Formats: sequence, C-alpha cells, structure tokens
Amino acid sequence: MPVLIAPSILAADFAAFGEECRAVEGAGADWIHVDVMDGHFVPNLTFGPATVKAIRPHVRGLLDVHLMIAPVDPFVTAFAEAGADILTAHVEAGPHIHRTLQTIRDAGMRPGVALNPGTPVEAVAPVIDLVDLVCVMTVNPGFGGQRFLDVSPKIAALRAMIGDRPIHIEVDGGIDASTAPGAARAGADVLVAGSAVFRGGSARMPEVYAANITAIRQAAEGVWT
Ligand code: DX5
Ligand code: ZN
Repeated sequence: MPVLIAPSILAADFAAFGEECRAVEGAGADWIHVDVMDGHFVPNLTFGPATVKAIRPHVRGLLDVHLMIAPVDPFVTAFAEAGADILTAHVEAGPHIHRTLQTIRDAGMRPGVALNPGTPVEAVAPVIDLVDLVCVMTVNPGFGGQRFLDVSPKIAALRAMIGDRPIHIEVDGGIDASTAPGAARAGADVLVAGSAVFRGGSARMPEVYAANITAIRQAAEGVWT
C-alpha cells in the first residue's frame, strides 16, 4: 500500500518557509503539514493564516493544516482564504466538533479530525462521515522532536471503523524510519514527519531531505512486501 509523506514545517527554517517548502516537495514530499498552535490548546505558539497565505504560492501539492487551537470556528474562513486544502481540528478542542467539521466543509476545504493520545477512538465515531482524514496523534501535541507513543491498537480500531470509506488515517509525532512501519501496519496511510525529514538538510542541501523521505517511505511500504 503506498503511503503519503507529509513533512511538518515546524522542523523547517522559520526564516525560509517558501524555500523549505519548495525543497521538500522537490525531494518527494506528498503534502506539506502546517502545525498551527495557539499557546492555549497546546503550550506552544507557532503561526496562523497569514503564514499559510505566504507559503501557498510555494506549494504545488496539498497544504495539510493541523489546528492545535481552541476555539476553531472563528478562524475557519481565514484558513480557507489563505489557501488551506485540508483543515484538521482536534476533537478535544470544544463541545461542537460536528459543527466545526461542517463549517470547514462549507468553507470549501477537506475536514480532518485529530485525536490526542489519551482520547479513545470512539470519540470520532459520531463524526466519521463528515471527515476526509483522521489524524491520530502519536505524541502529545505542542512540540516537534518528541518520542513516539505507540497507539497501534487505536489505529487498527480506527481502520476497522472506517471500513471502505475513502478516509485517510494520518499519524503525527515521532515518525521516522523506525516507527513508520508499525503505524503503517496498523493502518495509517499518511505519515507526518518533522524532525526525521528536515534533520541534517537545508533548502541548499535538499538531497538530505530526499534521502530522509525515501528512508521513511521505504520503511513504511516495506511492511507490505
Ligand atoms: C506536534 C505536531 C507534529 C510535529 C511532528 O504537536 O503536530 O506535526 O511537528 O514533529 P516530529 O516529527 O518532529 O515529531
Ligand atoms: Zn501536526
């Protein structure tokens, strides 16, 4: 089964997002993953719609925007106007995830729902028909470079819940060539990776990004051969 690799620009050079996105796409990235943090839902701050708008012309593929913010709804229109393709909200971000996902779809984007490691997979069952993607966090969100948490049983249960619906299962946090195979075997088909993609490279040394992406992809896809 082919997997999609979505590098998180949280691990890129913040002074050069445009070049970094072009380099990592040239190196084989499928999507660009954008981690939006508000210092409230998670204990860290990153960036918002203005940054998404700034990088949009530098990205040919899908912009996969992961909101670690609460509330979500007041910002949905701004992310649509900025050019986000996929907009993912956390199921833990508020009492009205159903409305949030409808709002994202109505704004013309593909809705995703994310689950923290401590949240059971049943939390997304009532909204599964509203989403194009479920993001299973394999770290507690807020920071790049954390140790992978093995939640394979949750991924497998989610795969069973999804059945033959065309919904992606994305894993996010601590993904590298050693942890990707377990996630893929359990049923994930989109792998977010920050540190493991950007480590050792730069926009001027994109061959390192290419080697890093290939290593993760081959490790994950090797599960099926
Ligand atoms: C964590 C973010 C992740 C993170 C992944 O809050 O949602 O996307 O940047 O980074 P690594 O791959 O370094 O764990
Ligand atoms: Zn993320």
